[in-house]
Amino acid sequence: MSSPYTVRWGILATGGIAETFTKDLLLDPSSRDVSDVKHIVVAAASSSSVDRAKQFLADCSCPSDAKAYGSYPELVKDPNVDIVYVATPHSHHYQNTMLCLLAGKHVLCEKAFTTNAAQAKKIIETAKEKKLFLMEAVWTRFFPMSIHIRKMIQDGELGDVHRVIADNSFGANVEERWGTQHRMVNMELAGGALLDLGIYSLTWVFQCIYHTLPPDSRKAPSVLGSISKYAKTGADEKTSMLLTFPAAPPAPSKHDAHGIALTNFRVATFPNKHELTRPAIRIQGTKGEIQVDGPAYRPRNWRFIPVGKGDGDVEWVEAKIPGHGMFWEADECARCLRDGRSESEFLGWEESVVIMETMDEVRRQNGQKYPEKIETLDYPVEL
Ligand SMILES: NC(=O)c1ccc[n+]([C@@H]2O[C@H](COP(=O)([O-])OP(=O)(O)OC[C@H]3O[C@@H](n4cnc5c(N)ncnc54)[C@H](OP(=O)(O)O)[C@@H]3O)[C@@H](O)[C@H]2O)c1
Repeated sequence: MSSPYTVRWGILATGGIAETFTKDLLLDPSSRDVSDVKHIVVAAASSSSVDRAKQFLADCSCPSDAKAYGSYPELVKDPNVDIVYVATPHSHHYQNTMLCLLAGKHVLCEKAFTTNAAQAKKIIETAKEKKLFLMEAVWTRFFPMSIHIRKMIQDGELGDVHRVIADNSFGANVEERWGTQHRMVNMELAGGALLDLGIYSLTWVFQCIYHTLPPDSRKAPSVLGSISKYAKTGADEKTSMLLTFPAAPPAPSKHDAHGIALTNFRVATFPNKHELTRPAIRIQGTKGEIQVDGPAYRPRNWRFIPVGKGDGDVEWVEAKIPGHGMFWEADECARCLRDGRSESEFLGWEESVVIMETMDEVRRQNGQKYPEKIETLDYPVEL
């Protein structure tokens, strides 16, 4: 058996998701039945201090020879780093990803990809020019469950898919939990429900209706969006979207479909226990419906109810996640690097851009703008 292809990661930022992702990277791939690729963490950088980066590496139990840097520019100069995981707030993705690409590093950048579609196009253009790999880190798409559900849709098991409803809502006392400075509500950090949580509702709508068609049959949806703002900062706290896709699966498409993508800080998808309010996602076709239990970003339970079956006759299937589940997207990055691919077939550049355009349009319809310095295409800009 040939030895696994090994990818050397650099971690840019040391916040909550950087820690979760890094711990997942370090899990033994055999625990998820993977043997063709593996990951090592060779460096991490913090914009606050080198000590913070050292602490992060220790907290994640990274190898003792992993390098700690007190700035992002130092990290991207490290010749041992193959790919950088960008885990800063959305406001910083464009600047940080440009920094990495211009230094010749491949990039996996957290969601939302950038603050707007123009920035997404610019980083893609830069990756193309530099012949580098670039992907938005929408980890849910790489779950075996997501891949299985997409295949069922493509194979026509649901019949013609006419509607997908997806909700990813939090249920927080926003004032008490996030105040005015936290990245979830701070406009300077591109805060708001849409870019942070709504992206997962959109992910389910797009991966079921759009991605399941052959690339040349996919058509961007028309968009109707409603936003309500958090009075203290102006960030969107409730966003509801109605998308009409002119083409829908299975191919060849014979009909349109609606996607209803919801997100809300004030009320939750699950007010109590998951079991009482399932499902968070409903994929509805003429032959049956797939229901996926939330949370939309890390689902574990799902079921298929064929038309004619009683709701209670169909059991929920529980998928196993041996860790947090972020390693599946990392495995895809490794395979793309190994095979010399600049983008992933599971979430290609064009689809990330169409989703960013959808969010741009919802914001445009509702007069939702971020400060110019985080919407700009200028680079470099000090944030
Ligand atoms: N995939 C997922 O499930 C998931 C979950 C949560 C978040 N996310 C995404 O990951 C990104 C980071 O989220 P997070 O929850 O990890 O945030 P966080 O805990 O606040 O961490 C963000 C990190 O970014 C760095 N940073 C650089 N400039 C900053 C600034 N001006 N303000 C705040 N932080 C700054 C800081 O690290 P240093 O001081 O070390 O530079 C900070 O620790 C967001 O884009 C978010 O949407 C994804």
